[in-house]
Amino acid sequence: MEILGVDIGGSGIKGALVNVENGTLVAERHRIPTPQPATPEEVVEVVVQINRHFKWNGPIGCTFPAVIKHGVAYSAANVDKAWIGTNGEELLAKKTGFPALLINDADAAGIAEMEFGAGNGQQGLVIMLTFGTGIGSAVFYNGQLVPNTEFGHMEIRGKDAEDRAAGRVRKEKNLNWEKWAERVNEFLKRMEIVFSPDLFILGGGVSKKHDKYSYLLHTHADIKPAEMRNDAGIIGAAMAARSLL
Ligand code: BGC
Repeated sequence: MEILGVDIGGSGIKGALVNVENGTLVAERHRIPTPQPATPEEVVEVVVQINRHFKWNGPIGCTFPAVIKHGVAYSAANVDKAWIGTNGEELLAKKTGFPALLINDADAAGIAEMEFGAGNGQQGLVIMLTFGTGIGSAVFYNGQLVPNTEFGHMEIRGKDAEDRAAGRVRKEKNLNWEKWAERVNEFLKRMEIVFSPDLFILGGGVSKKHDKYSYLLHTHADIKPAEMRNDAGIIGAAMAARSLL
């Protein structure tokens, strides 16, 4: 079964038809730069274009980097504030003409990793973290998602954790891997005190470079790099949209 998955990010909006039974992309993905400012109307217009590109007639699953409850965005840390209070699902359905599901980006990536990637078959408590512009989080207990956890906004040393340890911060502050890993360790330790997870899955842009920092991270829980890289959001969003059928 195929469903259109779309990953809405700060710099690009990427879509692909996904085979939701085996978690693979059916055709090459299509990327359009995120319009600036990334208002709901402008962003949804891009999703309409992606939908047209694939000549798709069916449900659409879309990620968004914010708290999403019943289709409505409740936060907008690194995106246009006009999203707060917007029912993205309604807007998407109205403009595309098809049922749409909106889901937090890290939750979507986690869904894909738990079924087809690093979390496959893992029981107990799994915390997926994505390190990019912000830090996204997704929690699973025996494979069941606990949505909208937003650990990137946990306070560490008076700041949002993501403003100390996101992939973006490593680049902006020119931190070497050791310095950045110290910050990540502090964050992971905090997670362990509260949740005692069995496994951390580390995703986002830095997962490509796992070898450069994984040996510097020290946790009781196992740590694995995400396996699905850039496609996890698209695939997880499409998988979540099965609920629309
Ligand atoms: C947002 C989260 C998102 C994460 C990764 C954070 O700033 O609050 O909703 O999952 O960035 O994009």
